[in-house]
Amino acid sequence: MSNGSTPLPSAAAFGDYVRRFQPLIESALQSACQPSEGCPETLRQAMEYVLLAPGKRLRPMLVLLAAEACGGEPTTAMPAALAVEMVHAYSLVHDDLPAMDDDDLRRGRPTCHKVFGEAVAILAGDALLALAFEVLATQLAPPELAAACCAILAEAAGPRRLVGGQADDLQATAAGGNLDQLLAIHERKTGALIRAALCLGGRCAGADESQLARLAKYGQLLGLAFQITDDLLDARGCEKELGKRVGKDAARGKLTFPELLGIDQSASHAQQLVDEACEVIAPFGPRGAGLESLARFVLQRSR
Ligand code: IPE
Ligand code: IPE
Ligand code: MG
Ligand code: MG
Ligand code: MG
Repeated sequence: MSNGSTPLPSAAAFGDYVRRFQPLIESALQSACQPSEGCPETLRQAMEYVLLAPGKRLRPMLVLLAAEACGGEPTTAMPAALAVEMVHAYSLVHDDLPAMDDDDLRRGRPTCHKVFGEAVAILAGDALLALAFEVLATQLAPPELAAACCAILAEAAGPRRLVGGQADDLQATAAGGNLDQLLAIHERKTGALIRAALCLGGRCAGADESQLARLAKYGQLLGLAFQITDDLLDARGCEKELGKRVGKDAARGKLTFPELLGIDQSASHAQQLVDEACEVIAPFGPRGAGLESLARFVLQRSR
């Protein structure tokens, strides 16, 4: 029964956007994995194994949806979408290495180093990271846009953001950590790339400063909600659905939201962040509906 108000876009509504954009994203990813002169075949296979594995593609979706929210043609942002997914894929390969989280399952498959060995996995990650910037630099125009996008992605992937967050994540323990530390880790190791995806999509669509500020704020809130949900899924998710091992954070004494705040408070904090993120993008109107449904999906996801 309707109460007269507009129904909230749900995870189901997000399905429409997935059907619209995912085939385009998959085909761009496939093109990026074609043999190219000088790239050894084993290295190419490892890159392909990682990049084409069945991930959710949320970050490239965010790039395209941000472009759409700003009135741009989403596919003009495809090089940025591709680049962000490459950086994400590299970060997963390195995150899974024995020296880091030491995981053997990713996206429902053995991790890259389990299949190709550690050395090739490290190099496949290196290659994807470099390729991301080649894509931005050579496939975006005009050159000012390409340079601005390279700077945004480099900052998000670099020592102050993603890599810095990963470094702190390795040191932090639930026993010795507090909420400020945890927020700083989550916002950098995961939030920064999500925020960058939004900013890149907006830039490719020629967004103005106020639109870019909204996208960045939405990205910051969503990024934190996303990693809280990741922590919750590690604590209470289903391995088969998730495609990665569960219960590892607690087993390793990691500093996570459920460890610090408990399951219920963590879930309600993620909910609050998503509500706030949706308010921030409300001024985009119907063109922002994709971003809103993606934010709702992040809360309801089981993988
Ligand atoms: C997993 O990200 C790694 C984190 C930053 C928490 P996703 O849950 O988006 O992974 P895929 O791309 O769908 O595999
Ligand atoms: C990983 O966080 C963040 C990055 C890869 C940058 P997690 O270690 O929690 O991600 P999962 O759970 O292995 O996917
Ligand atoms: Mg990790
Ligand atoms: Mg991990
Ligand atoms: Mg995790």
